[in-house]
Amino acid sequence: MKKKRKLKKNVYVVAVILIFVGLLTFSGIKIYKDYKYKQTYEYKLLEHGYELKEVKKLEKTFKDKDLDWLLTIPKNKTILKLVDEKYFLAKNTKEYLDYYEDNDDISLDMVITKINTHTNYDFYNHDIDVDTSLKYLINCNKFYHLAKDYDPGEIVTIPTTYAFGTQKIEKTTYEAYLNMWQAAKEENIHLMVNSSYRSYEEQEEIYNNYKSSYGEDYANKYAAKPGYSEHQTGLALDIFSLDNTSTKTFVNSAAFTWLTNNAYKYGFILRYPLDKENITGYSFESWHYRYVGKDVAKYIQENNITYDEYYAYFIEK
Ligand code: DAL
Ligand code: ZN
Repeated sequence: MKKKRKLKKNVYVVAVILIFVGLLTFSGIKIYKDYKYKQTYEYKLLEHGYELKEVKKLEKTFKDKDLDWLLTIPKNKTILKLVDEKYFLAKNTKEYLDYYEDNDDISLDMVITKINTHTNYDFYNHDIDVDTSLKYLINCNKFYHLAKDYDPGEIVTIPTTYAFGTQKIEKTTYEAYLNMWQAAKEENIHLMVNSSYRSYEEQEEIYNNYKSSYGEDYANKYAAKPGYSEHQTGLALDIFSLDNTSTKTFVNSAAFTWLTNNAYKYGFILRYPLDKENITGYSFESWHYRYVGKDVAKYIQENNITYDEYYAYFIEK
C-alpha cells in the first residue's frame, strides 16, 4: 500500500517536471522565434511605419544594404511610387529622390528617365567611355563617347544602287539594310543612304562645318562632336529615298512612313525621334537610323522609347 502511494507520488513528480520542461521549451522556442523575427526586414520595416504589402514590395525590390539605408530615413511615400514605375532601377533610388526633391514639378517617370539616361547632367558634361564589347548594342551619345581610333569591325562599301556616292558601313548592318531595301522596293519605295560610317576626323569636319555655317547651337542640335557620333560606330545610316533627300520634307514622304512602320523588322530604329530631344540630345532626324538587331528594335518600336532609355534599363542596368 505504502509502496503504491510512493509510486503514485513519483508519477506526479515526473509529470510535473515534464510539464515544466515542456513549458520552458515552448516559451524558449517562442522567445527565440520572436528574437529571430525582430531581426528581419519585415519586422523592422513594419515598425518603421510601412504596411505589410509595402514591405513585401520593398523586400522584393531592394537588396539588404538598400533596406538598411531605407531604415535610416523616415517612411518615404515617393519610394513606394518609384518602385512601381516601369523603368525603375533600384541602384538609382537615391539619385531619383534627390532629383525629385529639387524638381518636384516633373513626373516620376520623367525623373526615372532623366537619371537612367544621365540627362540630369548637361549634354557633354558627364563623360562615360562606350562599352565597346557590346558591339551592336553600343550606346554612343552626348555622354558615352568613342576613342579616336575605335575599330568598327568589318566595313563594306554600299553599292550605288542603294546609296548616294561612296558609303561605307559595318557588314552586318549592311546586310540588314539590304533586306530592308528589298522589302521597301517591293512597295515601290527606293531607299538611298546618303551618310554612313564616319571616322573621328570626318565627324570633326562635319561638326566644324555645321558650326561655322550655322553657329554652335544649331550644330549641336544636328551634329555630334567627334567621338560622340553613332556614325563612328559603323551602325548608323542616314536614309532618304531616290526622290527625296531633303531633311525638311523627308518626314512627309512615303519612304519615311514606310520606315516608321517597317524599319524595326530589319533591326533598325529611328534614333532621334520627335519630341525626345531632351533625352537624345538631338532634334528630330527623320533620316537617321541605327542598327540594333531585330529583338531590340521590336521592343523599342512597341514601347515607344529611345535607345538611350533602352540601354539604361536593359543593358547598363
Ligand atoms: N547627326 C548625328 C546626330 C551625328 O552627327 O552623329
Ligand atoms: Zn546620321
